[in-house]
Amino acid sequence: MDIKSIIKNEVLSLKAYAVENNYYPLRLDANESPFPLADSLREEFLSRLSEVSLNRYPQAGSPELVHRFAGRLGVGDDQVIVGNGSDELIQILSIAVARPGAEMMLPTPTFAMFSITPVNAGLKLIEVPLDENFDLDLARMGETIQSRAPALTFLASPNNPTGNCFSFDRILAVIEKSPGLVVVDEAYFNFSTSARTALGLIERHDNLIVLRTLSKIGFAGARIGILVANPELVAELNKVRLPYNLNALSQAAAGFYLDHEEIFLKQAEAIRTLRDQLYSEMLSINGIHPKHSDANFIFFSCDFDSDRIYEQLLEQGILIKNFNRPGRMRNFMRVTVGNPDENEIFLKGLKEGIKKQGA
Ligand SMILES: Cc1ncc(COP(=O)(O)O)c(C=O)c1O
Repeated sequence: MDIKSIIKNEVLSLKAYAVENNYYPLRLDANESPFPLADSLREEFLSRLSEVSLNRYPQAGSPELVHRFAGRLGVGDDQVIVGNGSDELIQILSIAVARPGAEMMLPTPTFAMFSITPVNAGLKLIEVPLDENFDLDLARMGETIQSRAPALTFLASPNNPTGNCFSFDRILAVIEKSPGLVVVDEAYFNFSTSARTALGLIERHDNLIVLRTLSKIGFAGARIGILVANPELVAELNKVRLPYNLNALSQAAAGFYLDHEEIFLKQAEAIRTLRDQLYSEMLSINGIHPKHSDANFIFFSCDFDSDRIYEQLLEQGILIKNFNRPGRMRNFMRVTVGNPDENEIFLKGLKEGIKKQGA
């Protein structure tokens, strides 16, 4: 069999999403929460999971969770889809709009799955670089909207990997100008004190979709994402969703999260404080240039070859994310905010790496 003659070109030309599966004692590469489930909650969590009927299919479409998330977010039940992480919701959106010839617009750099999944589904990618402050380049995006009418646009605010929120008036302008769907991904919303949610705009803009996830505030392993949009659009997207998309254990975990949300929101607050401390420490290291962050990670550039710094950190058992490539991402890296010990180990490792890379 000639695999290349069977698999579609869009897939053949893709690179799979890179996940580093080797063991490293300190992983600060995936923007997860550094806090495991508190000991005081473990027993209740396990008892909740033990009540799940594994011999039965889960509730199709997670109606109880949909109802509870809708209540929390102040929207109707018919405006919410709960997914197997936001990744699945990105996939549902991509499949739903991938008509022949459809295009999508992405301000870059941004989250890799915004291009991998839609391209897989057959959408053609149009990249519009962020401006010099990593904000939306409204002029260029406006031109692209006018000339190409993209079916789908993804805006992550706060953005990954840059860590900043986009200006709200620019987000609004993109939504208003776009004939296609605009997704505002608020995965890092809980780490920002200045971010404005786009949820309130849904009522007036039927092309707007807001995404949230529990992955960044302690439940990455349970894979729970939330999509909010107008009821008509949600009804169409639900036709694409697999009936049992969220397994019964994840549904139980999400219910548990909702029962104890204030604990996880407090942890997000603690992460914000740790981020600000980490930022100041990094700022004081010669040759390291951290960017302001509204998220649970810090995007930074260095005056050294970041490939070498990255390797030096790996040698010390510390995994971060290296974005080094020619152009404006030259020598840029991203580190997830860890717990106080982890941040200290990272800072020590970074200083050590800088010392050694020149040797
Ligand atoms: C902007 C953004 N959206 C979504 C996700 C993934 O969310 P989930 O784990 O819910 O699939 C990430 C993960 O890094 C992200 O950076």
